[in-house]
Amino acid sequence: MLDFAGFSLYLERRSYRRGVTAPFLPCISGSMTQPRKLHIKSFGCQMNVYDAQRMVDALAPEGFVETANPDEADLVILNTCHIREKASEKVYSELGRLRVAKDEAALQGRRMAIAVAGCVAQAEGAEIIRRQPAVDVVVGPQSYHHLPQLLAEAARGGRALETEFPVEDKFGFLPPPQPDAIRARGISAFVTVQEGCDKFCTFCVVPYTRGAEVSRPVDKIVEDVRRLADNGVREITLIGQNVNAYHGDGPDGRPWPLGDLLRHLATIPGIARLRYSTSHPRDVDQSLIDAHRDLPALMPFVHLPVQSGSDAILAAMNRKHTADDYRRLADRFRSANPAIAFSSDFIVGFPGETAEDFAATLALVTQIGYAGAYSFKYSPRPGTPAAELQETVSAAVMDERLVRLQELIDSQQSAFNEAAIGTTVEVLFERAARNPGQIVGRTAYLQPAHVMAGPEIIGRILPVRIDSLERYSLIGELAAPQPHAAFVTRPDSSPQSLPITTGA
Ligand code: 5AD
Ligand code: SF4
Repeated sequence: MLDFAGFSLYLERRSYRRGVTAPFLPCISGSMTQPRKLHIKSFGCQMNVYDAQRMVDALAPEGFVETANPDEADLVILNTCHIREKASEKVYSELGRLRVAKDEAALQGRRMAIAVAGCVAQAEGAEIIRRQPAVDVVVGPQSYHHLPQLLAEAARGGRALETEFPVEDKFGFLPPPQPDAIRARGISAFVTVQEGCDKFCTFCVVPYTRGAEVSRPVDKIVEDVRRLADNGVREITLIGQNVNAYHGDGPDGRPWPLGDLLRHLATIPGIARLRYSTSHPRDVDQSLIDAHRDLPALMPFVHLPVQSGSDAILAAMNRKHTADDYRRLADRFRSANPAIAFSSDFIVGFPGETAEDFAATLALVTQIGYAGAYSFKYSPRPGTPAAELQETVSAAVMDERLVRLQELIDSQQSAFNEAAIGTTVEVLFERAARNPGQIVGRTAYLQPAHVMAGPEIIGRILPVRIDSLERYSLIGELAAPQPHAAFVTRPDSSPQSLPITTGA
């Protein structure tokens, strides 16, 4: 197991940029007459989606407004993901395209700044500027509150780099979203409750790119959720790399577990649905199980990554649990609330994975019965302990195992979705669908559900009779006259789709 001493060693081996801080300048941008245009492209997990919104919020006071078109932007931010090699390499091809756009802007007498944020920024630091000199700013995930200063420094002709893990909590410095921004983002919102991970799974870069596990205090989270609810948000997903390691300071001065936090948030008026992601099996405690038993607002859809069904591989991954521990845990969740469905993450082709190990993974999937899952081919990440393992699995075997696993998961997901046909399920309506006259929402299990209706149902939870399935979407009709106020009851046992996964 890699502990914090191991972590320092890792940093030394990798010379990860933990201490590089640009000198701080006072914010010189001040009030702007012309709004400047900002384009953010996010890769990877839901934490990045959330961080992108916080970067928009941090830059709004500087006069930046968002644009969907990178070519007309004054600032383009790539919010990057380092979890697998493919995700990291995408950044450099994207930067190549942006360099061309930047040159064209310069020909038109316009300055386009390029910033790289996220986990690749954290892991590769100055190497990014060396590989692509068009980059002006490199900023790690813990330093987004310093973006205005870093941009100001770059605007004076230099480059700015910050991949420090600052001592201050960035959340204390990031401005909260404005009411207009909250409304524009819709009725479902993410709230970060913890960041970082201390689990050190041997394949994973997260503990190095996102740092040690830190939980936000309960009152700050409550403040955020109240603000969101006051501006029309009905569903909150609490996010963190290992969200159920949450142990933030409560108002009583004691650390609160995730279950207690959920219990408290469920009392906030307007909040109809609560979710959380991503969990680690080892950190599930009784408070979380009890919350699923007691809280109708807590959706019965649990993303619980297991990675492998083989005890030997789980040990080599440093997952700190066995396949049987996981099976027992699934039983505990289901005893607390029989409507619970699971999704998961799997890695195939971890070094040393034999045919028997892989068969154990298929057996576990069959026993648990997933409503959906993500599966990945193992990707060695430089500097992680698993990257040093010699007994690698060939690309052909990995491909074959991935196909077999995905076929099994797809068949489970299809069966789960088909089971909804003919039932009535509660749907939280989110927005107009692409088909004119249709509104789309989500079931408790995140399945998209479409009905013909007017936009007045957006933000409401209504029963829908499901008639058919189109790919992964449920098609149905409103089942009863619309009640005056949206309310939530525990959903009857029916199906799902998937949260975006981040870690754990
Ligand atoms: N190779 C392949 N998949 C990985 N994941 C994390 N690191 C790697 C890696 N090196 C997967 C895990 C995790 C999800 C977010 O990404 O399944 O749960
Ligand atoms: Fe942490 Fe999850 Fe990565 Fe393991 S896989 S180190 S639990 S983020």
